Amino acid sequence: MSIALLKHSAIQHYLQSELLNEPIRIHVMDSIDSTNRFLKDLPQSHSIEVCCAEAQTDGRGRFGRQWHSPFGKNIYFSLRWHIKGELSQQSGMSLVVSMAVLAALQDMNINDVRIKWPNDLVWQGQKLCGSLIEALLDRTTGADVIIGIGLNVSSSVDELALLNRPSCSLYDITGVHFDRNVIIARLITRLIQHLERFSNQGFLPFLPVWQQTDDVYGKMIHVTQPTGSLSGIAKGVNEGGQLILIDESGKTHYLSSGETSFQKRTTHFD
Ligand code: BTN
Repeated sequence: MSIALLKHSAIQHYLQSELLNEPIRIHVMDSIDSTNRFLKDLPQSHSIEVCCAEAQTDGRGRFGRQWHSPFGKNIYFSLRWHIKGELSQQSGMSLVVSMAVLAALQDMNINDVRIKWPNDLVWQGQKLCGSLIEALLDRTTGADVIIGIGLNVSSSVDELALLNRPSCSLYDITGVHFDRNVIIARLITRLIQHLERFSNQGFLPFLPVWQQTDDVYGKMIHVTQPTGSLSGIAKGVNEGGQLILIDESGKTHYLSSGETSFQKRTTHFD
């Protein structure tokens, strides 16, 4: 198997011409502790900063977990985005990011991938991609967010088996070792399109897409949050991107963040 290495010129080449006027700066690394950390420490700029690496030595996942990042196999990618409004009004952004990744995959004819609220991309119940969004606050310039995406592209079955949950790669889905330069170009294009639309129109226009790709709708789930956990039937998301969860007593909860797992029990209640 020969896998193309990441190359700045190749990513630029594949970027759609509609983005040529966007001020984008792409940092391509051999190895870095974390692409999210790299962008956090960059000085303020007017550019959309992107970092991708062949390997991460301290890749970070959600809830303080480690993100296994072997050399040359997968995508470890971060994009820094300046928020125009208040940070508190960005609920739904992590769902929009997942929909952007999904759109990038669909551009390459990779279908059948679904989104497990809030931001895992899954295929046949196995995790393909996760994202970690971190906020950077500055009193004078407002807020930036760092959007970090870890996407399994060509990790072997043995490597995936080391992870703490059932996981898969694009190779498992398609039998193809994709050129990561193409995927990164599609990710940049789709993220910018989706984030611009979200910033102008909010979450509402994304709701129909969410409904088509929601992997948890109607299922009995368990949501873990730093403050506790809840179980119930998932009923989609509201206009702000919050998960609607109906617990066993019939009470409706609206959740903004957390980690979802499926309950063994399959009986549904309405
Ligand atoms: C998750 O736990 O599902 C989120 C994983 C996010 C991993 C990516 S890899 C690129 C970026 N840099 C990091 O250190 N983490 C994110």
